[in-house]
Amino acid sequence: MTMFQKARRAQAQSVRKRLVAHIAAGGTTDLASSEMRLPAHCYTDPARWAAERQTLFDGVPLIACLAQDIPHPGDRIVFEVADHEVLVLRDEKGQVRAFRNRCAHRAARLVGAGGDPDLRRGQRIVCPFHGWSYDLSGRLVNIPGRAGFDPETLENCRLSPVVAAEQDGVVFVRMRGNEPLDLPMHLGSFAPVLATLNLTAMVPVQASRLDARTNWKIAIDTYAESYHFGVLHARSIGNAYISNVAAFDDHGAHWVLTFAERALADLVGTSEQEWPEARHVGTYFIFPNTVLVAGDIGPSERFVRMFRIFPGDTPGEMVCLFSVYISGLSVENYKAKFGTIDDSKSDVTVEDYEVAEGIWSNLATKDEGPDLIVGRNEPAVQAFHRAVMDVVGLPI
Ligand code: FES
Ligand SMILES: [Fe+2]
Repeated sequence: MTMFQKARRAQAQSVRKRLVAHIAAGGTTDLASSEMRLPAHCYTDPARWAAERQTLFDGVPLIACLAQDIPHPGDRIVFEVADHEVLVLRDEKGQVRAFRNRCAHRAARLVGAGGDPDLRRGQRIVCPFHGWSYDLSGRLVNIPGRAGFDPETLENCRLSPVVAAEQDGVVFVRMRGNEPLDLPMHLGSFAPVLATLNLTAMVPVQASRLDARTNWKIAIDTYAESYHFGVLHARSIGNAYISNVAAFDDHGAHWVLTFAERALADLVGTSEQEWPEARHVGTYFIFPNTVLVAGDIGPSERFVRMFRIFPGDTPGEMVCLFSVYISGLSVENYKAKFGTIDDSKSDVTVEDYEVAEGIWSNLATKDEGPDLIVGRNEPAVQAFHRAVMDVVGLPI
């Protein structure tokens, strides 16, 4: 067993003990110290929304992809963040680099829909418009019709860099500024938790996207509690989990939630020595916008489902990028076992986003109505809003 497996197993055992104690107590859950009230304007105010978009989505490290999305030198992806497009790639030395997805000539997209698919890999980034080409460090290396340009102009042309770094299999970028990313500082006490997840070898198997008519924070709220499982998801995941029983671990702006699988009820009143091996599965939030549901499929087979939520063009629009990664089993075996799971169309997603769109309709009226009440039993929802308000610098 690897060091990471041992750490995950130990973590799963200790959190299971907390959940069984909650079930034994009649269905208690980890609680915040008090309720929280959120006025509707926290979601609807256009100035607040613009400040969040700028502070959080331009100024905070965001997860662009996992390491195995770009395993080899020359591999690249395009990461769309609010109104920017970032080209994220691995250079000849295996380092992650990122650039605006914009040619230095006349601003064409370097990688995008259409064009020759061969232009999307290899040691050169070739613009599909007039063929300017760049090496993997962003240097301009070939210009058809060079005589049309002043040599000094060409000397200064290169791709615009975006700060990027990789930690424990996760590739982060930050849209604004050129100081290097300080990921240990960004992650704080969550850093060892991320290391334990060991995402370095997780291979992508599926990706999709959902555009919804709701606010980005309303969407994140739905991932941050199990209080709604038995009602909203009665016919989907409500069958597998006990509603409103969860272990919450706070890591500043980031957090971990572990929900109580129904099978844990069988352990109440039994000796811990007789319990089967704990299965690791948890919901991890990496501030400001990423939810990872990570867990074991089998003894050495694992999955991660990643949900990244972004503001859209208005406070009432958002985008969620869904991706699934696996390790310990082949993509073929995974597909044979689970089919082509598309999180953007799953029952749970449809149920959650229908509610999230309804909440937005109710809030986005002239009369903003009474405050929303976030219960003591919804500590992760509270932690998320507190972190947003702290970082943006706009209290209620
Ligand atoms: S815009 Fe890229 S080569 Fe012209
Ligand atoms: Fe849900």
